[in-house]
Amino acid sequence: MILKPETVGHGGFTVAREDGKVWLLGYALPGEVVEAEPRGRQGGVAVATTSHVIESSPERVRPECPHFGPGASQPAFLTQCGGCQWQHAAYAYELKLKRQVVEEAWSRAGLRLPPDTPVLGMDDPWRYRIRGEFEAIPTSDGLRFGFHRQRSHTVQPITTCPIHDERIEKALPAFARAADELQVDGIQNLLLTVEPEGPGLLWRIRFKGREPSWPRADYARRVAELLPGQVLLDDAVTLAFWGMTFRVRSDTFVQTNYQQMLRLYETALRMLAPAEGDRILDLYAGIGTISVAVARDAGSVTAVEENPRAVQLGRLNARINSARVEYVPGLVEKVLRQVRIGRHNAAMLDPPRAGCEPAALAEILRLGPDRLVYISCEPSTHARDLIGLVRGGYRVRRAAIVDMFPHTYHIESVALLERS
Ligand SMILES: C[S@@+](CC[C@H](N)C(=O)[O-])C[C@H]1O[C@@H](n2cnc3c(N)ncnc32)[C@H](O)[C@@H]1O
Repeated sequence: MILKPETVGHGGFTVAREDGKVWLLGYALPGEVVEAEPRGRQGGVAVATTSHVIESSPERVRPECPHFGPGASQPAFLTQCGGCQWQHAAYAYELKLKRQVVEEAWSRAGLRLPPDTPVLGMDDPWRYRIRGEFEAIPTSDGLRFGFHRQRSHTVQPITTCPIHDERIEKALPAFARAADELQVDGIQNLLLTVEPEGPGLLWRIRFKGREPSWPRADYARRVAELLPGQVLLDDAVTLAFWGMTFRVRSDTFVQTNYQQMLRLYETALRMLAPAEGDRILDLYAGIGTISVAVARDAGSVTAVEENPRAVQLGRLNARINSARVEYVPGLVEKVLRQVRIGRHNAAMLDPPRAGCEPAALAEILRLGPDRLVYISCEPSTHARDLIGLVRGGYRVRRAAIVDMFPHTYHIESVALLERS
């Protein structure tokens, strides 16, 4: 089948129309002519993957990673790791496409993305991930680690991953070799987090089913021997920025792109512009990185977070940094019901991909803080929630897109709303 993708869609796909039928097409770029193979459906729409490029876009580049591609016959498309979707696009063009995706999501919701919305990309968009989760794959040559294939539950071992910190890539064979030597069976996956500015490497192994009794200490000792430059940690690592220090654990959220996390926080803080008299709500606060940063300039910060481990760590992080942050554990949609109108005059929101529950949005509208800064990692739920807030009396004043996930379809955006 020959397809001519015209625009970009969400999920790393381009969109092509053929005889009135819409196709989500992977590994192509708008303006190209490609030979494509059908690959099922997604959300009711037909999906296809590029098997051969007939007319190439000037924005097409050679993918950096040998595991990138749809698994077709063309040499540039050898394998099909599901981690990245845009390695075949020049980076500046990828940023342009991401802006179009956000614009489209906003417009579908009935909003206009402010024309001056910047897209903050990386100078060097590689080796940016400080955290990675890898599936364990037993092979005839011993244990290997890898990723899920594109749109599949099957896994594929990897030899390199140029979007991860090199220390993570180098650590994988050590964890695999130690498991082989000590005959540790039943490993499901491995989560690694490196300290951006220190030697710490935090590790967590999950087993299929219940954790068996296994020689954990011997295993850790062997891995440490195999990784002489790194300090193996199984409790927490330190994240340090702007003169603050945070403890991060494997069971709590951390922004995986440290460099861009700083730009995101800088952008969000500039929008919020906390001042001494402000009483600020930090909703979906995680381990309190934003709360503590905001507390340096604000009168008070109330952090709301549902994960008890994050709350525990958030309270510790507030103490470490002598920050005036009060944690309220629980779901935003429930905790806000107990909050008095007028108690807070500004709020920061940073929910997961699903966005805010309607009940959470209703509570925010009831409380009506003067300004809201809403950070999101999913443009469609961001736009859906923003239009809800706009209908409830807010105006979008500014927006920014921060590329936290180069070469993947993920997009982070942030918006400042003020009560009109
Ligand atoms: C995207 S993370 C943001 C964390 C933090 N702002 C940061 O920058 O590290 C979302 C956080 O929201 C929490 N969360 C998810 N749903 C929630 C809910 N309904 N109520 C409260 N917290 C929630 C998660 O546990 C997670 O820590």
